[in-house]
Amino acid sequence: MSPLSDAMTASARRKVCVVGAGYVGLPSAGVLARRGHEVILAERDPSRLAKLLAGEVPILEPGLDQLLAEGREAGRLQFEASAAKAVVECDFVFLCVPTPQGDDGSADLSFIEAAAAEISPHLRAGAVVVNKSTVPVGTVDLVTRIINRSDVSVVSSPEFLREGTAVADSLAPDRIVVGADNRRVGMEVAELFGTSGTQVVVTTPTTAEMIKYASNAFLAAKLSFINEIATICEAAGADIKDLVWAMGLDHRIGGEFLNPGPGWGGSCFPKDTQALVSISKDLGHDFDLLTAVIESNERQFDHIVDKVAAVVGDLSEATIGIWGLAFKANTDDRRSSPAVTIAQRLVATGARVQAFDPTVSAKDAAAPDLAGIEICADAYGAAAGTGAVVVLTEWPDFLLLDLDKVGEIMERKAIIDGRNVLDPALVRLHGFSYTGVGRS
Ligand code: UDX
Repeated sequence: MSPLSDAMTASARRKVCVVGAGYVGLPSAGVLARRGHEVILAERDPSRLAKLLAGEVPILEPGLDQLLAEGREAGRLQFEASAAKAVVECDFVFLCVPTPQGDDGSADLSFIEAAAAEISPHLRAGAVVVNKSTVPVGTVDLVTRIINRSDVSVVSSPEFLREGTAVADSLAPDRIVVGADNRRVGMEVAELFGTSGTQVVVTTPTTAEMIKYASNAFLAAKLSFINEIATICEAAGADIKDLVWAMGLDHRIGGEFLNPGPGWGGSCFPKDTQALVSISKDLGHDFDLLTAVIESNERQFDHIVDKVAAVVGDLSEATIGIWGLAFKANTDDRRSSPAVTIAQRLVATGARVQAFDPTVSAKDAAAPDLAGIEICADAYGAAAGTGAVVVLTEWPDFLLLDLDKVGEIMERKAIIDGRNVLDPALVRLHGFSYTGVGRS
């Protein structure tokens, strides 16, 4: 038992259900158990539930296995197939189900609607339903209508977890945001996570839903901005590393989240930026600035492909090595991965593409998103016989490679560093040509 939970009085210990054992539900359930609450995690996918019951964690998230094991060993974390059964007697129910992007760019709320309808008859009087999934403005009203119970509250508490640091982000969030019409209920939800030392914002449901989209859209805009500045630096002969360093010293800008790369991706930014454009349009505002941010990001993928072409010449005759397929380091997630997008665009040119990612093995080669890409067992294999190697995910593994060995097996010693993670002088010392993003 962590000291904190020991100190928690029985009255503060609540019974909480988390619906959905995904990238949001798993860390949330683990943190709520760590805080001393009694947590039931409902997961309807039999294979995912079986893994959890066997003590396995279905996603790669540093620290999550220990957090979940701690909760189970303390008897504060159980898994259940049925959300309807799991919510009985619960004080709070967190909806952490997927809200994928619909064909028209808006969020698909079918999972949220189905979960709300399933649990409604089984909620105890006074229960609080918490929308934690990223949902469009107005979803609290939608869920309230579906649940249709005057003795049940529905609030919004958006998550701000980053994949790869979700456990740390859950245990020490920059802020907890709760959108609730009843302020007392809002504070109760915030207090579940142990609010000591964390800024708590209790606001209206609509505002809480907007905070999530605005935050992600702004972060995406920050990245599209620095990626375009990097392109200008390339033309001007300026150095993006010193530029970012100096920009970041301005406390209004900040140096974090300002690293140029192959473009942004993942399961959130592409979905949330499109959803916000759609939400804005429905509200009568054409969010052209955000549309430009999205279009700029699309161009960044092609900018990296152009860098490869500039090195190897005719791509249709080339063999290209790719280092990294996950959308960022410390995750096995390839959803909307810029690395996969760029690899696929290289395949489309007729190039032969061979790739290595520490989270991708030969058995993954049949995955639809990897069609046409040869999966290699290590970075050396991906470099063998190639006219260029492209770094697309910032795995630390790539900093520890024997560059002499890499050079011996390549057809042409050329590295395109899409993440600016390698040292240009060191790479050139080993006889390679080096191409970075915004730096020579
Ligand atoms: C994001 C938000 O950060 C998080 O708050 C929200 O809850 C979910 O969406 P996530 O998508 O997991 O989190 O990853 P993030 O670390 O934000 O990276 C998003 C994309 O930006 C990745 O493709 C990443 O490689 C890229 N990125 C990030 C950069 O290119 N440069 C940077 O400096 C940081």
